[in-house]
Amino acid sequence: MNILSVASEVYPLVKTGGLADVVGALPTALLPHGVRTRTLVPGYPSVLQKLKKRKKAGRFDNLFGQPATVLSAEVNGMDLLVLDYPALYDRDGGPYLDTTGLDHADNFRRFAALSLAAAEIAGNGVVPNWKPDIVHVHDWQAALAPVYMRFGSASDIPSVMTIHNIAFQGQFGASVFPELALPPNAFSTEFVEYYGDVSFLKGGLQTASAITTVSPSYAQEILTPEFGMGLDGLLASRVADLTGIVNGIDGDTWNPQTDPHIPAHYGPATLKRRAGNRKALEERFGLERGPGPIFCVISRLTWQKGMDLVAEAADDIVALGGKLVVLGSGEPALEGALMAAASRHRGHIGMVTGYDEPLSHLVQAGADAILIPSRFEPCGLTQLYGLRYGCVPVVARTGGLTDTIIDANEAALSAKCATGFHFLPVTADGLKLAIRRVMRAYNEPKLWARLQTQGMKSDVSWAKSAERYVSLYSALLAKG
Ligand code: ADP
Ligand code: GLC
Repeated sequence: MNILSVASEVYPLVKTGGLADVVGALPTALLPHGVRTRTLVPGYPSVLQKLKKRKKAGRFDNLFGQPATVLSAEVNGMDLLVLDYPALYDRDGGPYLDTTGLDHADNFRRFAALSLAAAEIAGNGVVPNWKPDIVHVHDWQAALAPVYMRFGSASDIPSVMTIHNIAFQGQFGASVFPELALPPNAFSTEFVEYYGDVSFLKGGLQTASAITTVSPSYAQEILTPEFGMGLDGLLASRVADLTGIVNGIDGDTWNPQTDPHIPAHYGPATLKRRAGNRKALEERFGLERGPGPIFCVISRLTWQKGMDLVAEAADDIVALGGKLVVLGSGEPALEGALMAAASRHRGHIGMVTGYDEPLSHLVQAGADAILIPSRFEPCGLTQLYGLRYGCVPVVARTGGLTDTIIDANEAALSAKCATGFHFLPVTADGLKLAIRRVMRAYNEPKLWARLQTQGMKSDVSWAKSAERYVSLYSALLAKG
């Protein structure tokens, strides 16, 4: 079975969040099932620079008025297709934002082009001698592909649309519609029209053969007005085609026994060796040495992620004898609040602002507990990395966090299956209570080690979820 996966980011070439990790890891997990994936991504400079042996795989004479090339390359065993279109992608800044932090003004065109290229590869033989059986698109940036497929020559090919985060919908003013090369009737409520605007995500959700999201709980939540962010009604009409499949992690990249980014390797039987990582972490974040748990945060600093709650709980953490390290970047107000906490508690709270992949490994390997107080969380990956690294997750009871962490309540403790801590409500008080529970558990070393080892032994691989994707793909093909 051949899959064309379409996304705006892919690890290790370009990453702003968990989407890249998932798009980068799923193809390898599907391979043992005979599913071969080619992943189409935009040719940003950061992507093109990292391609070694690239080949020309196809070309467009006219994609939105300009020629473009499809390159193919292998990276980390992944079969990549890269849309080389300098006018859209060869520029400074990140995949979505320019150097001043604003959206690239032509994002609608940049990602419509990605989507149209996917539809043309699927239906019009743009890559000679290759055709996907299924097109699998991720998030709004790829969501117009099923729409172009419906109106073009790939209408017989099934498509899967995965929602990684429904908060990002790709909504633009109606004035962009004439530039999308869609027939006039696509601007209707059945397709991309959304309260007078154009919504890329809505178009994908209306036209994909199947819809998935990244955890079973989030699949339920997005059917409600609170979490559906305006699309709950549409999703309710498609509930028969909606499933939640939880993310896994790449166990080679995230393995504390072999991780090149940490000074001390360890496993469930050698937890004591984590001390070497703790020391490196203390040095890196300017913490005083001493007892007590080190809490950590590795996150985009946004409202979604509940980072204001961490800022509010910071004084409590220190008062209770804990320490805190924060690795993240995002909203200036939240960065400021966390930096202020760090300067109030020098030696007890440390912060590194920015995005640092290797450092995120050291933080997981050296800290004792990871705080994830998200207001909503489609899946979340840092709690899964925390499990694998013996960094006990402390999570808001929402979305994928609920599905992947077992709260250390009495029943779970006596069944010896607890792996972390849940809390509700998602408020500063809720988080502070959870921190007290963590402190009590940490002060019982046997109990704490059991939480760590139970987490480290829990299955966070892609194995089961890859099977679910394979069943979904097979069911779509069987439908014909
Ligand atoms: P989201 O995609 O919503 O940001 P996830 O938990 O799914 O949340 O994925 C976040 C990914 O980004 C993880 O791989 C995490 O380790 C990484 N990450 C987040 N912030 C940073 C940072 N400041 N430095 C390094 N890695 C980070
Ligand atoms: C999104 C979500 C996150 C999820 C990731 C990968 O960024 O916010 O919860 O883990 O996608 O699916």
